[in-house]
Amino acid sequence: MDHFLSLADLTPDELRGLLNLAVELKEEWKAGGNRPLLKGKTLGMIFQKPSLRTRVSFEMAMIHLGGQALYLSPFEIQLGKRESVPDVARVLSRYVDGIMARVFGHADVLTLAEYSCVPVINGLSDYNHPCQGLADFLTIIEHKGRSLRGRKLAFIGDGNNVATSLLFGATLLGMDFAIAGPPGYELPSGVWALGQQFAADSGSHLLATHDPHEAVTGADVIYTDVWASMGQEAEAEERARVFGPYQVNTSLVAEARPDVIVMHCLPAHRGQEITDEVCDGPHSVLWDQAENRMHAQKAILVELIA
Ligand code: CP
Ligand code: NVA
Repeated sequence: MDHFLSLADLTPDELRGLLNLAVELKEEWKAGGNRPLLKGKTLGMIFQKPSLRTRVSFEMAMIHLGGQALYLSPFEIQLGKRESVPDVARVLSRYVDGIMARVFGHADVLTLAEYSCVPVINGLSDYNHPCQGLADFLTIIEHKGRSLRGRKLAFIGDGNNVATSLLFGATLLGMDFAIAGPPGYELPSGVWALGQQFAADSGSHLLATHDPHEAVTGADVIYTDVWASMGQEAEAEERARVFGPYQVNTSLVAEARPDVIVMHCLPAHRGQEITDEVCDGPHSVLWDQAENRMHAQKAILVELIA
């Protein structure tokens, strides 16, 4: 692995290897602390958008492993405005051992990787959110076991960056994947085609529907995300209207398997895509999921820059 830009760049074995390493590093940390595997290493973190989880979990992961992270706010580098993206990559990568970037356009993270002389990690782009996906499959195997064949993940909502990474992860690992959202908000056709390609190899069953009830039938995992992602604020009102029937609430959860777990990458817009009852209810694994960002990213960091 040279960079970590999309789960679709990984083989199933590479993805399983990262998950195994994350499990190992989590156990080690729970037992008293991590070995200083990144002693003396530094991570430059470029943010074009706000963050709680991504920023803090990367920063803590570096500290726990003996390294250090540098937060670069949207006002600092001004990617592509104050300086071109290739020049930012050329300069920043002379100072640090790894770069994590949260960007608007996915092309920017690809350009950073192309011109950087150190590994680049995608901390969310408009296309995908692979760090989130890795943490989510760590959470799923903790709750459902390592063999995901025959298990079903139902994503309810927008065919967005998070849904994309979940499709890739599920189909690489042989998990069934269903998505339900309103017409016009499906996953991009190229993303779906890639998922179909992985599913043909792994045996995953795929379903894309506009019916949330059909999607959650038999589901082991229900997943949702905001209806308007960062950068889509101007569409928020229209989306709130269109996505109304796709709320993950108690009655929808009751249509899935009795032991279904409910996931959300957070931040949640409680009362929109998910209700308080579900967020704080017995099926929710939201806080394990948020914690696992840190453990999953330790695995990525150790793999790329140790
Ligand atoms: N889930 C996630 O990426 O959260 P932040 O936007 O707070 O980093
Ligand atoms: N889809 C959301 C995820 C936030 C972590 C967004 O891009 O804003």
